[in-house]
Parts: sequence; C-alpha cells; structure tokens
Amino acid sequence: MGNRVYIFDTTLRDGEQSPGCSMTVAEKLRMGRKLADLGVDIMEGGFPIASEGDFEAVRALSQEFPAMRIAALARSNKMDVERAGRSLELAKHPRIHTFIATSDIHLQYKLKKTRDQVIEDAVRAVELARTYVDDVEFSAEDATRTDLDYLEQVSRAVVAAGASTVNLPDTVGFSVPQEYAEIIGRIVGAIGDKAIVSVHCHDDLGLAVANSIAAVQAGARQIECTMNGIGERAGNAALEEIVMAFKTRPDRLPFTTGINAEHLYPASQLLTSIISFGPQPNKAIVGENAFAHEAGIHQDGYLKNPSTYEIINPRSVGVPETRLVLGKHSGRHALKQRAEALGFTLDKDQLDVFYTRFTEIADRKKGVRNDEIATLLREIGALAATAS
Ligand code: KIV
Ligand code: ZN
Repeated sequence: MGNRVYIFDTTLRDGEQSPGCSMTVAEKLRMGRKLADLGVDIMEGGFPIASEGDFEAVRALSQEFPAMRIAALARSNKMDVERAGRSLELAKHPRIHTFIATSDIHLQYKLKKTRDQVIEDAVRAVELARTYVDDVEFSAEDATRTDLDYLEQVSRAVVAAGASTVNLPDTVGFSVPQEYAEIIGRIVGAIGDKAIVSVHCHDDLGLAVANSIAAVQAGARQIECTMNGIGERAGNAALEEIVMAFKTRPDRLPFTTGINAEHLYPASQLLTSIISFGPQPNKAIVGENAFAHEAGIHQDGYLKNPSTYEIINPRSVGVPETRLVLGKHSGRHALKQRAEALGFTLDKDQLDVFYTRFTEIADRKKGVRNDEIATLLREIGALAATAS
C-alpha cells in the first residue's frame, strides 16, 4: 500500500449545508477555483436532489474544472442517483457518492428498514450509479455505531456491486482514535486492494482530525475534510490541520497529499469572505493568532530563532508573516524591534523608560496600536529617523 492519501474536499457540500455557510452557484465556483489551486483530489460540489442550486453548482463545477474529479452526493435511491448522474453529465472525471445509514439506531428510528433491506438498497444504488459513471463511492452513514460484522458485509457487497471507494463516516463524531483505527483496519483487511477505504469525521468531541489520522495509519487512503473545518454541527475534520500534520511530522506520519500548502491561508480567507463566519482566532494553521506571539519570553525566543516557538514557517501556508503582538506580557526585545520597525532609535535608558511606560498602558488595554506606540516614543524623546 502506497503512502499517498487522497484529499476529498467537501467544503462545498457537507460544509455548505451547515448553518451560516450556504453558498450560491457563483460563490461555489469562486471557492472551487481556490480548491483547485490548493490541489484537492476530489471536490464534492453538492447534493443535487436537495435543490436546483446544488444541481446547477455540480454542473457548473464540472464545466469549469474539467481536470478535477467532481463528486455529487445521492442517497441510495433511484431518484437521487439519477439526479446526481444528470448533474455530472458534463464532468470529465465524475464521481457519484451514494450513501445509506447502516447503524441499528438509524435503521430502527430513521429508515425503518431491516439490515437486509439496507444492503439491497445500497447494492442497487451502486449498480445504478455505475450505469452513469465508472467512479462510484459508497458511504455507510453512522459507520462507527454500526455492528462491525454487518459493516463488513455491507462493504463487501458494495465493492462487489462496483464501488471503488468505501467511506466509513464517523457521522456523529462519536468515535475515538484507537477504536476508529480498529474499525478501519477491519474493513481494509476485508476488502484489500479492491477499493480505497475512506474516512469522514465530524468534530463533536474535537477528535475529527485525530480520528482521520488514526484511520490513515490503519490503512485508509482517502480523507474527507473541509477548509476551516466547517460542516454539520461542530464541523468536519479541518483539511489544513491534516495536511500540515503530515507535512510537519513525516517522522511519525509518513504520508503525502497533493496539497499545495501555500494556498491554505488564502483558501481559508476566501471561505471566510464568502460564508458568515471565520475560524476562531486560536484555530490551528489559519486562525488570526496561529502565528502571533505576545508573551515576552516567547517573543524573545522567536526573535533569536523562530524555531524556538514556531513549528511551521507561516509563509509555507501562505500567511504573510508572524505577528509579534505588543501587550502587557511583551518584553524589551520585542519592544525595541517594534520601535525600530516604526523608525525610532532608542538608547538603553530610553528603552527602559519605554518598557515601563508601555507596560503601564498595556496593563489597562487588550492591545496597543502602532500609532499609540509612536506617540509614546515621541514623548520619551526617542530619535525618529524616518518617522514623522
Ligand atoms: O457525515 C456523514 O455521514 C456524511 C455522509 C453523507 C458521507 O456526510
Ligand atoms: Zn458528514
């Protein structure tokens, strides 16, 4: 088994179907362009039976990005699969992604079907999908709460029917890494190289990325994920975190993707401008504070050598630069550097006065702006070389 992991991006489908994230066709096309720059392997464009807009989005993405593998979602029934098939008519590399729930909880309360009926629906949907496209993915919704023998039976049946990818979602974000790895390992063992095993994790317990990585270690070779981790409820596994975990820790995680990491931050920023919220400031990789330092000890270490407090070069993910935030925790080293950046030269005594006065101000505020710092520097008589 090779170490290349395929990135299946579902920002435009699972991400888009969550509150505050809906996108027009034009917005999906704009985001699609960025995802193509980013180098995702598969782009899931929508759920064509759900709305005219989703149907049009899949069609437009198929036309606009002929080199890209475009996926359309369908429940395991005739109407959904036919609609997905039609939405993909113009795609050069179409994939129908059909799903049905397999856990007893979903069978009993939601579908009101027996296990045999669900296998029959799944097989029929895969067979029908294969009449439209060569590339069919099957998802066993709520796989992590499904009886394992039954999950294996379903997986074998859909592969025999023609599915080339079997996705085992942790639909409700319930699993933990070791358990998920065991489930994935069992199905990888059962279907061997007849199909790729894929993972799709939700973040209800904050474990989506950890679970996805554990699954890859157990043999999965496709990860379904989204930019900024958007998605149903607490979201999906964040694409940027998975990719950078592989890039940063190849000693422990010897896996590669086709992602061009320098597009991660621009992609995150574009998504934020399209939907109604951005990542939280302390979000890994793309959050506003991901490469910001305020504590004096950290700033001093960073200025001596960035590797003391940064494990990723911000430029490698498209973040323009590290931010040294000046606040009450900042030290002399960072203050001196900021004064110089603003065009002021300080002797040692002036630096001491600057430090004392700055700390007094910063103690009362959340942060101090550059114009306030410049005013303070002028007050203490710092020599302004270029500043006015
Ligand atoms: O979370 C889930 O189970 C899904 C499937 C439709 C793949 O989004
Ligand atoms: Zn999902």
